[in-house]
Amino acid sequence: MTQHTQPHQAASSLWSSRLAFILAAAGSAVGLGNIWKFPYITGENGGGAFVLVYLVCIALIGVPVLIAETVIGRRGGQSPIATMRSLTGRDGAARGWRAIGWNGVVASFLVLSFYSVIGGWSLVYIGKAAAGVFTGADAEAIGAQFGALLANPWELLLWHSVFMALVILIVGRGIRSGLERAVNMLMPLLFVLLVAMVIYAMNTDGFARGVRFMFSPDFSKLTTEGVLVALGHAAFTLSIGIGVLMAYGSYLPTRVNIARTAVTIAVIDTGVALLAGLAIFPLVFANGLEPGSGPGLIFVTLPLAFGKMSGGVLFGAVFFVLLLVAAITSAISMLEPVVEWLEEHKGFSRARSALFGGLVIWFVGIGTVLSFNLWSDVHPLGFIAFFKDKTVFDLLDFLVSSLMMPLGSLAIALFAGWALGRQGLAEDIGLRGLSYRLFMVVLRYLTPAGIAVVFLYNLV
Ligand code: PFF
Repeated sequence: MTQHTQPHQAASSLWSSRLAFILAAAGSAVGLGNIWKFPYITGENGGGAFVLVYLVCIALIGVPVLIAETVIGRRGGQSPIATMRSLTGRDGAARGWRAIGWNGVVASFLVLSFYSVIGGWSLVYIGKAAAGVFTGADAEAIGAQFGALLANPWELLLWHSVFMALVILIVGRGIRSGLERAVNMLMPLLFVLLVAMVIYAMNTDGFARGVRFMFSPDFSKLTTEGVLVALGHAAFTLSIGIGVLMAYGSYLPTRVNIARTAVTIAVIDTGVALLAGLAIFPLVFANGLEPGSGPGLIFVTLPLAFGKMSGGVLFGAVFFVLLLVAAITSAISMLEPVVEWLEEHKGFSRARSALFGGLVIWFVGIGTVLSFNLWSDVHPLGFIAFFKDKTVFDLLDFLVSSLMMPLGSLAIALFAGWALGRQGLAEDIGLRGLSYRLFMVVLRYLTPAGIAVVFLYNLV
């Protein structure tokens, strides 16, 4: 992943290259979105019906866009902005499509600014778990600990800074290949630990309720905004729509079957999210907690379980280390489009781009830090009814996850479906005959229509 296209392609074997791409793309996909965000937004949006819409969005919108974005990236072979420039030029498409590249750079910049703050929480919780502060604590005490963390801007700022420093260091020094090797082992371990947590949850008296909450849809609990959140989360969790996969796809050898790879990534990613939900909701119900309590959900439920189980100190600490690793592999993918843009447009070196871009993002992240304390009553768009209660963090999350990522996905589906040259497209995607034709129908009609319908419903 550290070199660019052609020489890399010739030198590497098919298998290892496909694996390297799967690891990088799955590393970007699997992150805080799966373990932190999916459970709390599922809780906020009433459970089963939300999960169902999310799964439909993954299949109908997520996978096709994942394929399309990777194909575009591999064809272009450069950064998202340069790729869009050269492909629109080559295929005679309108210049307006280039907005896809710009949307990506701005959105990945904004998403990292708040993602890093939450990444900082996982750093804090490694320390807390290892120090045994959860042992024997009840829900109230653990909730109060989380509340105290949020209330302290300096502590949040410190850990946000440490997280950003780690990301800058990794991206700036280009040691991602080493990191990937580590992730190769750590990600399966995260999976194993999540399965262990689900088994633990099975033995609580909240399991049946937790499963019912997640899988029996009650559509009366789902709002139109909830549908938009589900769509946005499908994009967020797969890291699509903002050029990250375009950048990663540019490193992908031509022989790799993109369709099959994309399905693999989506299955892994969805599997992790569902496991996280199955681990968390039983604990929520067994402990009389509120599923819709917001971003702190996993930082309260999981420590409770760690505090009760034998070996929970080690188990808890390892769990939060793995959560941190998952967060970092996602965060480095967000910095990539920004760094590539700085390298191309400002002529900065890689290290300087990572440092400069990272510092500006760190600074913007202070807005999110303050949203949880000093600015918790600041609602910048409060004069619009829809945004009445949204803090800076809520607004950033809404802007990126519910607008820029799904709209970027829409543009990518339309571009790949209608404007991209058709020659060799079937081979590029890795589908033949009927399955290719079916896929193109989905990409050209169903995917864009699905996104458009969700937006129209939210506007009226
Ligand atoms: N997919 C990541 C997660 O689920 O945590 C978040 C993410 C990564 C969003 C990369 C956007 C992005 F460009």
